[in-house]
Amino acid sequence: MNDILKHPLAMDGKDPSNLRGDVISPERYYSKEWMQKEWDHLWTKIWHIAGREQQLPEPGDYIVHDFMHESVIIARQKDGSLKGFYNACGHRAQRLVWGDRGSQESWFCPYHGWRWDIDGALLDGCDRDDYPEDPVGKIRLIEVRVDTWAGLVWYTMDDEAPDLMTYLAPTPEIYKNHQFEKTVRVDWLRVALDCNWKFWSDNFNESYHTRTVHPQVPPIIDQDHFTSRYEMFPMGHNRIIQMGRPSLRDRLPDGEPDPFDAQLRAWDIDPDQYPDFETRAIQGWLDLKAAKKRLWKEKGYLHYEHLDDEDLTESPFGVLFPNIAIAPGSDSFLVWKWEPHPTDPEKCFFEQWTMAYPIAGQEEFVNRTAVNPLQLTEAELDFREYGTGESMEGYSDQVVVQDMTLTAGQRAGWRSRGYQEPYMADQETRVRRFHEVLHDYLADNPPGR
Ligand code: FES
Ligand SMILES: [Fe+2]
Repeated sequence: MNDILKHPLAMDGKDPSNLRGDVISPERYYSKEWMQKEWDHLWTKIWHIAGREQQLPEPGDYIVHDFMHESVIIARQKDGSLKGFYNACGHRAQRLVWGDRGSQESWFCPYHGWRWDIDGALLDGCDRDDYPEDPVGKIRLIEVRVDTWAGLVWYTMDDEAPDLMTYLAPTPEIYKNHQFEKTVRVDWLRVALDCNWKFWSDNFNESYHTRTVHPQVPPIIDQDHFTSRYEMFPMGHNRIIQMGRPSLRDRLPDGEPDPFDAQLRAWDIDPDQYPDFETRAIQGWLDLKAAKKRLWKEKGYLHYEHLDDEDLTESPFGVLFPNIAIAPGSDSFLVWKWEPHPTDPEKCFFEQWTMAYPIAGQEEFVNRTAVNPLQLTEAELDFREYGTGESMEGYSDQVVVQDMTLTAGQRAGWRSRGYQEPYMADQETRVRRFHEVLHDYLADNPPGR
């Protein structure tokens, strides 16, 4: 059943015959020339996530997205729409605003005092009569295109890029049953790491490493490659759908507390009713779906209203090319994004947004692959320098922190003469696919154009 490709645009993401077989040259992980090519042909062409709609409820509210040397402001307009601008004064380039966000009716340039409306028009300036033509009415801030999906605010610097829904296709359609905009960001983590940004694209495009790096996960999400479904889409996005039940080959030792049991109990299912481990995993998983369908309303899981059998229990994980990952579960919406450092190709910034649905009567949320409960309230940004890892205190139960332990070794290995060309399993097809789409962008031939 898991071999069924559900969406007509999906290619089999475990079939290497869907690849060209491009060479994955190692200098992409450390060379400044690659970094420049990526700026010219990739970052200036894609759609970026700047933040969440929830951060800008009122006219004048704005968020700032600093990306490499660039900075973009996105502001809520008086008519409720969103507009985005490069964060550079139209007079002589002074940065207009600093910081992550704010709320203002206009932006005042600290250099020569030009004042800009949040719709990008110049309102006033010094000595306007000293110009051959009054700059007011003539000069505007340079706009970027802005759109929203899933409660997220997106923008692109490219006037020729496909519109956001076409760019993301078929992701919005696949997840149409969810109500992402209702989630609360219960944890917001940003980490500065010493490795190229593509570490995360590679890492998130395969689950081959999970049994080694995240042994706590298979007892709750079946990570077996032969029960998972793999999909690759024409616009460069990939995903894996893993079953929300224990893997049959990762049995916990007898007597150890079992996180799947806790899930069953939460939906009034007695885990002890099953005669053996296999029945509990398979029949328990089916019973869990049935119980969720029966009890969602009375238990206050109102966002389950439109979810189908797959949405209710499985664990879909998608990489939206090139630098965003999403895991839309029944109870949470996890978003990760990773971005290059402004000048050093061997550094990057990684973010994890843990977003959960508010449930009446519940004050805490526990992600199914984590341990520590999180308050079901909006979190502030928690920024950390990874260094050698000691700084990640408090996050040790997070899967991505386990991934972070591998960054130093990848950074070192990519520079070794002993590393030439990866030798990858079929379940790593999406990793190759990522690099092939990257090559298409760098050759000025991105998908959808
Ligand atoms: S640079 Fe902004 S007013 Fe001169
Ligand atoms: Fe991982």
